[in-house]
Amino acid sequence: MFTFAQLSDPHLSSPVPVRLADLLGKRALGYLSWRVNRRHRHRPEVLDALVADLRAARPDHVVVTGDLTHLGLPHELEQARRWLGTLGPAPGVSVVPGNHDVYAPGAGAHSLAGWAPYFVSDDGGEPAFPSVRVRKPAVFVGLSSARPSAPFLAVGEIGARQIERLAAVLADARRRGLARVVLLHHPPLAETTGWRKRLVDGAHLRAVLQSEGAELVLHGHTHRASIGELATSTGPAPVIGVPSASSTGPEPERLARYHLYRLERDGDGFQIWLSARSYDPAAGGFVTESPPRPLRAPAAVLSRSGGTATPPPPAPRGPAPAR
Ligand SMILES: [Fe+2]
Repeated sequence: MFTFAQLSDPHLSSPVPVRLADLLGKRALGYLSWRVNRRHRHRPEVLDALVADLRAARPDHVVVTGDLTHLGLPHELEQARRWLGTLGPAPGVSVVPGNHDVYAPGAGAHSLAGWAPYFVSDDGGEPAFPSVRVRKPAVFVGLSSARPSAPFLAVGEIGARQIERLAAVLADARRRGLARVVLLHHPPLAETTGWRKRLVDGAHLRAVLQSEGAELVLHGHTHRASIGELATSTGPAPVIGVPSASSTGPEPERLARYHLYRLERDGDGFQIWLSARSYDPAAGGFVTESPPRPLRAPAAVLSRSGGTATPPPPAPRGPAPAR
């Protein structure tokens, strides 16, 4: 049995102290949003409680699907690098960046160099995406959809080079009998998010996932739980989003949460179970929102975008459970 955890969008850093020169262009709007709104919604004490709970669960691996910072400033990236160390040794933690981590023009892959131990591939080559990290029986394949975008947009783009490389990685992992877990920040299913926050080359990515197959696709970005699926040549691939790891709401479905997955071989394939741990403001800690349940693979009906995505059903209380 192999277990792993997913958390996303912790937005853990503080942009202050910030220089006026840092606030040109898009970062001015982002800073305003942080001052007025985000610093109240994303709380360090919630994230600390999540990390304590996650460490007690002792998963074999942890994945973080982007947006560790607010404005992607150098001192924020450094705060995030130190925080990653609290999750465990770098070989046991895999990260992909989000749009807030590469927030403004001029930022690029080089600005993420401090996080390289958390996305370097097993071959020890130059840290780059897709990252390929085999943790048997799984392989974690990380994609970067992070890029700067115009004010009021939060789009992502993977790019043809990464997607072509992904096709080869998925095919090779299938031959090796590994459970392919694909990580990216932006939701790959068009229905999951609006035009302003979309993955601009989502159709290209879906085409490759459909032709090569994947056992699980994990994303963040929406700050909500979502369960979808994508029909692929090797069966339906669950596509799962998780809320922010530090959010106090205010809507119940936006309360902080992380997911725990259990992976077991099942004949030639795999069984995957998902359970959700959610923040309980009254207790100041995390509680089981939904016990382990199998991620089933119903016959998928392809929509125009190549997949289906549904929000989880309402819970009797608190945030909706992931299914
Ligand atoms: Fe995001």
